[in-house]
Amino acid sequence: MTVTFPPGFLWGAATSAYQVEGSLDADGRGRSVWDEFAARPGAVEGGGDGSRACDSYRRWPEDVDLVSELGLRAYRFSVAWSRVVPEGRGRVETRGLDHYERFVDALLERGVEPVLTLNHWDMPQALMADGGWAGRSSVDAFAEYADAVAERLGDRVTWWVTQNEPWIVALLGYQLGLHAPGVADLGASVAASHHVLLGHGAAADAIKAHAPAARTGCALSLFPCDPATGSAEDAAAAWGSDGYVNRWYLDPLAGRGYPDDTRAHYERALGRSLDDVVRPGDEDRIGGRQDWIGVNYYTRRVMAAAPAGPGRPFPWRVVGPSGDVRRTDEGWEIVPDALRDLLLRLHREHPGTPLMITENGGVFGDAPTHDGRVHDVRRTDLLLGHLRAVHEAMAGGAPVVGYLHWSLLDNFEWSLGYRPRFGLVHVDYPTGRRTVKDSGRVYAEIARTGTLPD
Ligand code: NOJ
Repeated sequence: MTVTFPPGFLWGAATSAYQVEGSLDADGRGRSVWDEFAARPGAVEGGGDGSRACDSYRRWPEDVDLVSELGLRAYRFSVAWSRVVPEGRGRVETRGLDHYERFVDALLERGVEPVLTLNHWDMPQALMADGGWAGRSSVDAFAEYADAVAERLGDRVTWWVTQNEPWIVALLGYQLGLHAPGVADLGASVAASHHVLLGHGAAADAIKAHAPAARTGCALSLFPCDPATGSAEDAAAAWGSDGYVNRWYLDPLAGRGYPDDTRAHYERALGRSLDDVVRPGDEDRIGGRQDWIGVNYYTRRVMAAAPAGPGRPFPWRVVGPSGDVRRTDEGWEIVPDALRDLLLRLHREHPGTPLMITENGGVFGDAPTHDGRVHDVRRTDLLLGHLRAVHEAMAGGAPVVGYLHWSLLDNFEWSLGYRPRFGLVHVDYPTGRRTVKDSGRVYAEIARTGTLPD
């Protein structure tokens, strides 16, 4: 049976500023937490950083042409906060805004819908003086930045992602210290999660003040959590993990406040109440500002009960799938059905809220062969499998408005450096040369026809 998507479905791809731009000193850009973090010995595999990346700050016309040649209707990119407010507060750098204005105009001229992310992890380093996202003043700083971007681009950008993957910011940035700013402190982490969400609320208000028709949302890293066994203990572990990873973000954004069970887990682990972090009225400043839900989906988590203790704040652990499962080159289990079920769950629990896949993809190391092409068959398989899952969810009623593949380009994969390749387009880093992979060609055909190959 031919699988056909509705006309108007947003076929697209995604990137983020620090991962592709390079040119870290251009046009008055300030230092970001990632500049600082990547310079720490051992922080990034291979010792790389974002100083060159895909050179997209200079090669952006080529990237826009690629998006257009692939026939994509949407492009998700991020504005680098430190290009707009280099010192974190106060002075706005117009050259930074000029750049993104040119970029957005070029997309629009080619009929490509910009999906603009405000915070894809590259907070100005100056804001670390107040603890970064762990400090409450980050919320006002973020609102100022959102205001500056919305004032300039609100008349032409409809789709806004205020925050990218709040859980990952809290987890890797502030709990485990594996991402910038490299803090490892559970209390700082839960505070960061809250301020990121408050930042969403404040930014959404700033955007709407300039552009009432804008559609604001967050891109959430959603991981379905399955119990390892049929035991009641593992079921509780999966539910606990779901609260920590998914509901802690989904619920307040939907105006339901924080889930009690997860709050209790945090309070138990910290040995104190969160009342000083989550203050009266805060939840009202987060909820009701979500016009759509951005779904970043890569894999699921298989969970087992385990006693909390040193290095394990909560009573569960990830055991991963057992047995012979399909995996990407990074070892992530490939489970398209879990995406279908996730979308159906979101439809059930958030009826009427449009869903957009803001990221989905996988790491496959394929490089150009003697014929000059990149035969990344497994990426194509992953893409088709997940698109079928999206279609099944839509057939079940889930209001999915678009699919943005991660990523348009191979790029800087944070602490893993340049080794993992996620792109539909191969990037030869020494020269910056772009080569559309076979998966990119297949995707272009899907975007053109709106149907999946049989
Ligand atoms: C999530 C992040 O938003 C993105 O920056 C990252 O590269 C991909 N997932 C792949 O890990």
